[in-house]
Amino acid sequence: MRVGVIGCGYWGAKHLRVLTQIPEVSLVVAIDARPDQLSQIQQMYPGALCASSLDDVYDLIDAAVVATPPRTHGPIARELLKNGKHVLVEKPMTASVAEALELIELAEKNNLTLMAGHTFAYNAAVTALKDLVDSGELGSVYYLDSARLNLGLYQPDVNVVWDLAPHDISIMNTVLGAEPTAVTAWGSRHAGGPFEDVAYLRLEYGTLGTTANLHVSWLDPCKVRRTTVVGSKRMAVYNDLLDDGRLRIYDKGVQALPANDGAMPMSYRYGGIVSPHIAFTEPLMNEDRHFVECVLTGARPRTDGYAGLAVVRVLEAAQESLATGKTVDLLEVSKA
Ligand SMILES: NC(=O)c1ccc[n+]([C@@H]2O[C@H](COP(=O)([O-])OP(=O)(O)OC[C@H]3O[C@@H](n4cnc5c(N)ncnc54)[C@H](O)[C@@H]3O)[C@@H](O)[C@H]2O)c1
Repeated sequence: MRVGVIGCGYWGAKHLRVLTQIPEVSLVVAIDARPDQLSQIQQMYPGALCASSLDDVYDLIDAAVVATPPRTHGPIARELLKNGKHVLVEKPMTASVAEALELIELAEKNNLTLMAGHTFAYNAAVTALKDLVDSGELGSVYYLDSARLNLGLYQPDVNVVWDLAPHDISIMNTVLGAEPTAVTAWGSRHAGGPFEDVAYLRLEYGTLGTTANLHVSWLDPCKVRRTTVVGSKRMAVYNDLLDDGRLRIYDKGVQALPANDGAMPMSYRYGGIVSPHIAFTEPLMNEDRHFVECVLTGARPRTDGYAGLAVVRVLEAAQESLATGKTVDLLEVSKA
């Protein structure tokens, strides 16, 4: 299988590294509009073919990874699908729901693989967190909380919601096996940039009766990558910055007691902390291997076009909520 990587900047270069290690991939073609970027790539991967335009390499590739800035994803993926190429598009899959629907339709019509680059869905710690929720070990899920904070990196074409929240929305959807029914967002602009650099999202999973609160920021002194699930029996914290003990299960809880005159009505349980062993392999390697396997076998990707659409739907609703200050009911939107 011959694979092109379109956009070989920070993240596209990682796809190149991973793809060159997959035995089923016979040729990797690096495509980037910037000559300086291409010459660096050529030095790092002498075996990779390099091109400055996708138009020059259509005949050389069977599939492509789109790792250009977010607003270009839809148009580039559309051209690839029209030209009969299987596509893995980085997050967010597109810049609008309309574009996402168009890609899904094109892929289905041409019998091609369309996959969204939701890397955390291929992260063993997220799978373990999902297993904890599915097995009932945490009890009923009261709520989820996540924080993805750092100083930068400011993006030139999207706000912090479109840049960072796709990760957390895909984690929440994966862990819960559901999609939000309503979205509320608020954010603010600092540091003189054109886009919101700090934002909070509240996702309501109405079908499950639970909520997820997301905090994303390019303007925080501390790097944080944390997802917390608070259940009625136990609580779990996935901290992506830890090499060891990324997932911790806290045997902690609170229970309301029947009110007594003068007595505290809550009972607290402070139990132990367990950190299960998780055999960790690089999520991007898992993701790209899965893409190659899906193309070769015709299997449907775990993060298919619909999973990409589900995330873009939340991002679009969050954008509307940022502008209006109101909650966006996604059930109403999908009926319209
Ligand atoms: N899945 C993840 O964990 C993850 C992590 C980081 C970034 N990303 C995503 O990867 C994408 C790229 O992000 P980045 O940080 O690597 O950006 P970047 O700016 O470092 O790289 C983008 C590259 O695309 C090239 N480019 C732009 N338009 C092009 C075109 N039309 N044809 C060919 N090349 C073009 C630019 O020259 C640049 O080298 C974004 O969509 C981002 O959201 C995903």
